[in-house]
Amino acid sequence: MQILVIHGPNLNLLGSREPGVYGSRTLAQIDADLTKMAADAGAKLESFQSNHEGALVDRIQAAGRDGTAFVIINPAAYTHTSVAMRDALAAVGLPFVEVHLSNIHKREAFRHHSFFSELAEGVICGLGPQGYLLALQYAVAKLQAGQKQ
Ligand code: DQA
Repeated sequence: MQILVIHGPNLNLLGSREPGVYGSRTLAQIDADLTKMAADAGAKLESFQSNHEGALVDRIQAAGRDGTAFVIINPAAYTHTSVAMRDALAAVGLPFVEVHLSNIHKREAFRHHSFFSELAEGVICGLGPQGYLLALQYAVAKLQAGQKQ
């Protein structure tokens, strides 16, 4: 059970970045919580953050070859712009959940559209860091159900 968590641009600044919108937990703390929850469930979890669209596309492509079974992705600002990342996820065909810390539908109009949601198994937004944990809970349950078949 190999799960990849992808964080898009500026999420490396979590903790200090607009805490009123994104909360006070750092990315390292969020990743540590995810890693622990995955380990407790017997899953392997890797996190990847980049501020560069090409690097994110490369990591998604690599996930198609490296044994990744499920992706949890917060594409951050690229949610609203990146056909390239969407195409990469379509190309590898891995199931994924899209996560946003903030409720993008309560915010500026340009954040209301996601290039990813149509391909996602599900979308979680507005629940802060807990959204990642809920996505992981779903991924583990789905992978465990698949193993039993
Ligand atoms: C975000 C929402 C995006 O609109 C924004 O550009 C981000 C973070 C979120 O997690 O709420 O960087 O994806």
